[in-house]
Amino acid sequence: MNVGILGTGNLAVALGRAWASAGHSLLITGRDPRHASEAAAQVGDAASAVDPADFAGRADVVVVAVSWAGLEAAVSLVGGPQGALAGKTVIDCTNPVDYATGELKPASGSAAELVACSAPGASVVKALHLFAGASWPYVGSKETAPVVAICGDTPSALDLAAALIGDLGGQTAVAGGLASARQLEEAAGFVMRVVAAGHNPRLAVPDVDPALLSAAGTTTD
Ligand SMILES: NC(=O)c1ccc[n+]([C@@H]2O[C@H](COP(=O)([O-])OP(=O)(O)OC[C@H]3O[C@@H](n4cnc5c(N)ncnc54)[C@H](OP(=O)(O)O)[C@@H]3O)[C@@H](O)[C@H]2O)c1
Repeated sequence: MNVGILGTGNLAVALGRAWASAGHSLLITGRDPRHASEAAAQVGDAASAVDPADFAGRADVVVVAVSWAGLEAAVSLVGGPQGALAGKTVIDCTNPVDYATGELKPASGSAAELVACSAPGASVVKALHLFAGASWPYVGSKETAPVVAICGDTPSALDLAAALIGDLGGQTAVAGGLASARQLEEAAGFVMRVVAAGHNPRLAVPDVDPALLSAAGTTTD
């Protein structure tokens, strides 16, 4: 599959390498063609830098990996507002978080919803914002594979995102529609706050076996 990555930084390279090792081709673009070429070179032979104007037409799926401050500009760069991403699955990995405080920068809504507004007709999925890019590919046992919480409104787009996460070695938990994206983005802020307080976030959430909950007839309502 031609995985288009909008972004040329650390996450773009980390995900690009991991998907390249799973057999995908990567198309990398950004506002600076030199950065796109450098990122493609770091990913390797499976990657090529593409012009933003050609990006949407060539990518089977789009992964957004840019800074929060550049999100709207980046989606515009590839023609999102003009409908260039209509009909495509767009996976938003952005963290709209103040890294110093763990607070979300948008007062309401989410980065993923901003992507959806900026790219009419695209099927946006929030995913892959919580784990460091260096986590991928995960090559340990299946039982302990990272669980990537994702959300979105389009079942086929969620399936495609889950397949790509599977190619990274991860598992997927679908956590609602795109309106849930703020909660998933808040989770990243929560993790940052726990780390800043000197603790491992793994120890800051309860260890709950879902099998025990269903055996006890517990519901989440
Ligand atoms: N790194 C990770 O492990 C990781 C993991 C999960 C999620 N994330 C999230 O993924 C996103 C990218 O992270 P990163 O670590 O790859 O950051 P990074 O290395 O700093 O790269 C940032 C990217 O955003 C682009 N950008 C910044 N401002 C822009 C603007 N105004 N218009 C267009 N493009 C702009 C940069 O382009 P230029 O090169 O031209 O400046 C660059 O391609 C962030 O939202 C981050 O929170 C990162």
